[in-house]
Amino acid sequence: MSSDRLRIAIVGLMCGVCTSALAQTVPAPTTPPDPPRFDAQAFPNFLGAKDLYDYEALPEYHEPDFVAAMVAKGELPPVKDRLPNEPLVFKTAAMPDGIGVYGDVMRHVVGARPEGWNFQAGQSQGWGGIDIGMFECLTRTGPLFQVRAEELEPLPNLAQSWEWSDDGLQLTMHLIEGAKWSDGAPFNADDVMFYWEDNILDPNLTPVTGTTQETFGAGTTLEKVDDNTVLWTFKTPFPKQVLYQMAYGDFCPGPAHLLKPEHPKYNPDNTYEDFKNAFPPEYMNYPVMGAWVPVEYRPDDIIVMRRNPYYWKVDEAGNQLPYFSEIHYKLSTWADRDVQAIAGTADISNLEQPENFVEVLKRAAEPDAPATVTFGARTIGYSLYPNLSANGWGQPDDRAQAVRELNRNIDFRKAISYGLNREAIGDSLVKGPFTAIYPGGLYAGTTYYDAASTVYYPYSAEGAKTLLEQAGLIDTDGNGFVNFPADAEGVGGQDVQITLLANTDFATDRSLADAVIAQMEQIGIKIIGRYMADNQLQAARNAGDFDWVINRNGSSLVSVVQNTAELAPTGPRVALQHRVGTDDELDLLPFEQELADVVDGFIATNDPIERIALMKTYQQLYTENLYAIGLTQYSGGHILNKRFSNVAAGLPIFLFNWDVDSIFRERMYVAADKQQDYELFPDTLPGAPGSDGPVGL
Ligand code: GLA
Repeated sequence: MSSDRLRIAIVGLMCGVCTSALAQTVPAPTTPPDPPRFDAQAFPNFLGAKDLYDYEALPEYHEPDFVAAMVAKGELPPVKDRLPNEPLVFKTAAMPDGIGVYGDVMRHVVGARPEGWNFQAGQSQGWGGIDIGMFECLTRTGPLFQVRAEELEPLPNLAQSWEWSDDGLQLTMHLIEGAKWSDGAPFNADDVMFYWEDNILDPNLTPVTGTTQETFGAGTTLEKVDDNTVLWTFKTPFPKQVLYQMAYGDFCPGPAHLLKPEHPKYNPDNTYEDFKNAFPPEYMNYPVMGAWVPVEYRPDDIIVMRRNPYYWKVDEAGNQLPYFSEIHYKLSTWADRDVQAIAGTADISNLEQPENFVEVLKRAAEPDAPATVTFGARTIGYSLYPNLSANGWGQPDDRAQAVRELNRNIDFRKAISYGLNREAIGDSLVKGPFTAIYPGGLYAGTTYYDAASTVYYPYSAEGAKTLLEQAGLIDTDGNGFVNFPADAEGVGGQDVQITLLANTDFATDRSLADAVIAQMEQIGIKIIGRYMADNQLQAARNAGDFDWVINRNGSSLVSVVQNTAELAPTGPRVALQHRVGTDDELDLLPFEQELADVVDGFIATNDPIERIALMKTYQQLYTENLYAIGLTQYSGGHILNKRFSNVAAGLPIFLFNWDVDSIFRERMYVAADKQQDYELFPDTLPGAPGSDGPVGL
């Protein structure tokens, strides 16, 4: 018997007493309490989009001396020939410290490991700014944190400009003309089309960010018009929202001149696995459109990148960017990123694991501290995602299938929410005003959040137990854990055992999983932790191989406009917790269908008032039905070494994208008198793709 049917049977038996018994033990849902005040937050100085940068040919261009020397020796074409016809020009007035100088290094630390360079075919490069720095996208949204609300629209990037047709069904995009990959090969519409046709539309491949055709709207098509122009055709008029999806990480093409010959469609000797793995981390000088190219990889030690001599961005004085000729990614742990950044042995970190807050803040307060820490809004949040598919996604066995059916039962999800003491969870990470109670859905303090539309099932172990009983779960063998009903298929009478997938790369994910396990035990649910490193966890999660998973939420719940389609199961493989089953169908619960309709409605309209109303409905549906179960939300700190210039105020560690996109690393510099001697490969540039490492004179 399914848990729903069992519930009806039990409710039937208890008829008459159930309502009053329930009323006594289950507290009424409420709105969440206001988050505590947190005065350490900084705010941006808002600007217009065009104040940041534009595209323009300048009378002269400059480059670092060692590059000019290589040009003089005939090793490289002159800088003006390496740049596009109209480079992207950063405006001096919007640069907090103005035109910069070349030199020094930006030293990152990352906790994950690179699988290979083929991001577009689903490989991770190790995060922490590596992929964001290597791949450039049609549009850019990270820096929008400082753009005035009236002008909020994705910034141009590889797409220099665009126009809508009168009926709004077509969008013509003009790509930057004459730009080149870091190995000098031309970048053009063929790169864009290869990404679209042979990655997005090829069902055998999914970029590491999970992009599918639906990301750009169901039925959307893309065609090449000429070398520098592509044409989008949509099913609904003016889906301006789609411009956000053309930013990181959904429309960032890879180098087709390298990738195409390895793709099974063009190379019958290769399988999709061969294609995916054709460019392992050991492959050096992989061509990029980003500012730095990988030239050295030492496993579990470091990835070193050198400047892209063809980078297509300059400052107003014509200096080719970036200002740093080298950038490091030490391969360590995420916790070590905080430790090293605050100690000054690394330069930048997102202080996002509250377990480190107190130590880091103490050190930052010392007068000789090499780094500062600034806090933004509470945009880091975690939720517990129950797998909501009951039609075979991830091939569940009898136990897992029985759990899926419980997951689909609203009383069961409510029981989990009532069973969570979120204040204690927040305090277990860090005491103080940092964390706030998070019921799920949109975060308090963000643009579309509405407290009155947010349903919160507050902590009540008694309430949780009552709801479990109502869902048919009773401790029949008296061992402290509830059992499946006697007639549940394959698992009748057994203890309910639920596995909880959590990421071991972050202390916070682990602490949260430990807290959930302990609190669920209090209400009689036995949870077994399945702790995995990030790369394995992503694979298990995407394959649907989980009962529950703890997840740090994406940008859609912060900004709403970024990755909007991910807010609900709007497509077959879009939602984290619900993808198509073995029959290729989505078995959506009625509220999930409503959520998807609301999100599709949001994407289809540009009317701000309608959008606000839709997001209220979204929030209500999400939190009332516990589409995912919120755990905690908090503000992350940004740790940055004090020697850097050109960092805009109020930088959030995560809003439209991560700090490493928002901060404009290509425009940051270190003043001459503060420069350090950190370069490992001074006076070199990337060598030929696949060759050993960097080359110099
Ligand atoms: C990881 C880190 C984040 C951020 C991103 C960038 O997820 O935890 O702080 O650096 O990488 O992709």
